Amino acid sequence: MPQPTPAPPPPEHVAIIMDGNGRWATNRGWPRLVGHRKGAERVKQIVSAAPEMGIKWLTVYAFSTENWKRSTEEVLGIMSIFARYIQREADRLASEGVRLRFIGDRSRLDPKLQRLMSGIEERTAGFSRLNLTVAINYGGRDEILRAARALAQEVADGRLAPCDITEAAMAERLDTRGIPDPDLIIRTSGETRTSNFLVWQAAYGEYEFTSTLWPDFSPDELAAILVRFGNRQRRFGGVTPK
Ligand code: IPE
Ligand code: IPE
Ligand code: MG
Repeated sequence: MPQPTPAPPPPEHVAIIMDGNGRWATNRGWPRLVGHRKGAERVKQIVSAAPEMGIKWLTVYAFSTENWKRSTEEVLGIMSIFARYIQREADRLASEGVRLRFIGDRSRLDPKLQRLMSGIEERTAGFSRLNLTVAINYGGRDEILRAARALAQEVADGRLAPCDITEAAMAERLDTRGIPDPDLIIRTSGETRTSNFLVWQAAYGEYEFTSTLWPDFSPDELAAILVRFGNRQRRFGGVTPK
């Protein structure tokens, strides 16, 4: 009897550029913030569904270093959604075994939000069923610059030799230290650019672009994308074995 082909392994680390909240709301004649609120609901749903799909690491892009260009009303509204998410989701994240981390430059964020962020990171540090990373005030170039400055300081202090600046040494100083590189990067809303997301880490990531706006992105669509990912051949510069 022919054996069924085993399902290809799921990507371990999925990263998502959650785009299209504003358009989702505008299309309905609603304020952009309604779209951001709806987007946060989607995050909850995807976070709950991800472990059952075999995903161990999930990273979501929530606010970029460039998003400060938006109106004060929108920026403050998004920040308050983050604070609410952390406060309201803490128990659920803990019960689902989710470890929450943040990447990005926190120094520009409201100190109260910074405290909420560190608090939930500490509270969930012992969990590992799903590693959720939220990128807030995150920019790939900014992250690389901060790491480069840290390396330069260590060299200036005589604690590090220039020849010890390796890929591993660099990775160790990025916000994502300890987090594996993303296997799959999904962007919603139809835009086909990376907008400064995981510039270093995505060097060999596979990309998927969908026209679905983030508030409409469902676990079913994620599952379909994972199937397509399973059919890809990743060569990492080598050749496919016969
Ligand atoms: C993504 O949705 C969320 C953030 C960037 C904060 P957008 O707000 O960019 O939505 P569009 O792209 O304007 O539709
Ligand atoms: C990327 O979306 C950032 C996030 C999803 C947080 P943007 O809407 O900011 O990207 P651009 O401006 O269209 O490139
Ligand atoms: Mg956008």
